[in-house]
Amino acid sequence: MVKLENISVLYNQKTLAVDDISLKVEQGEFLGIIGLSGSGKSSLLKTINLLVKPSKGRIYVDETDLTKLKDNSLRQIRREIGFIFQDYNLVERSSVLENVLVGRLGYKSSLKSFFGLFDNNDYKIATEALEQVGLKEKTFVRADQLSGGQKQRVAIAKTLCQNPKIILADEPVSSLDASSAQIVMDYFKMINEKRKITIMINLHDVNLAKKYCSRIIALKNGRIFFDEKVGDVDDQQLQELYQ
Ligand SMILES: Nc1ncnc2c1ncn2[C@@H]1O[C@H](COP(=O)(O)OP(=O)(O)OP(=O)(O)O)[C@@H](O)[C@H]1O
Ligand SMILES: [Mg+2]
Repeated sequence: MVKLENISVLYNQKTLAVDDISLKVEQGEFLGIIGLSGSGKSSLLKTINLLVKPSKGRIYVDETDLTKLKDNSLRQIRREIGFIFQDYNLVERSSVLENVLVGRLGYKSSLKSFFGLFDNNDYKIATEALEQVGLKEKTFVRADQLSGGQKQRVAIAKTLCQNPKIILADEPVSSLDASSAQIVMDYFKMINEKRKITIMINLHDVNLAKKYCSRIIALKNGRIFFDEKVGDVDDQQLQELYQ
């Protein structure tokens, strides 16, 4: 469960990007966040793992209040929260396997050489994650040899290696063509269903949100404009949101 209580994000003492948002997301939900550019979607998502510090409010993952945690406990809880970026965030010159193993680093304490860090269990987890996103045959290929859709699937595999309860994804398919976007969204759906991972995803494309999400939150000027089960979202609301 993720629970936000009265979260605000204020940049440079003047831009109120998120304005007093409260929100509860149950384990296993597939939540879409939509809204115009600048409505606060990225800011909201990034506060959840404290990539952006809220100026006010509390963030709970299950019973833990993240805003109260110090370095070590914050690091531990962050393993449970994956974050997927629009631009994949891979090391382009490294292999797919190396990129995916990065997802295991949160479980390592010492600073040995990169490959010295990982044991058989890490390799098993990495291989399973690559299998799950249909990219096992790309294990030893360099990341810069992959298509955009494949890179985003590597990013998903890397996140799966964290063994997350929650995956936050900020416009993960906005750089992809329509067919690659669908394929990547299908993988999000599959891991949501198979692993019961909560997915919170920012999307520009309302049709994708309607197709894949079970619940949609619309933001307008940093506030929740509506919060509905996907079947209850109507065209009138969407028109008002985007006008
Ligand atoms: N690091 C920052 N410093 C200052 N202002 C920021 C910063 N990041 C975002 N903002 C401002 O906060 C507001 C919300 O931005 P945010 O990026 O959260 O919106 P968004 O809904 O994700 O937009 P987009 O759809 O374009 O990605 C905007 O007015 C933006 O200019
Ligand atoms: Mg954004």
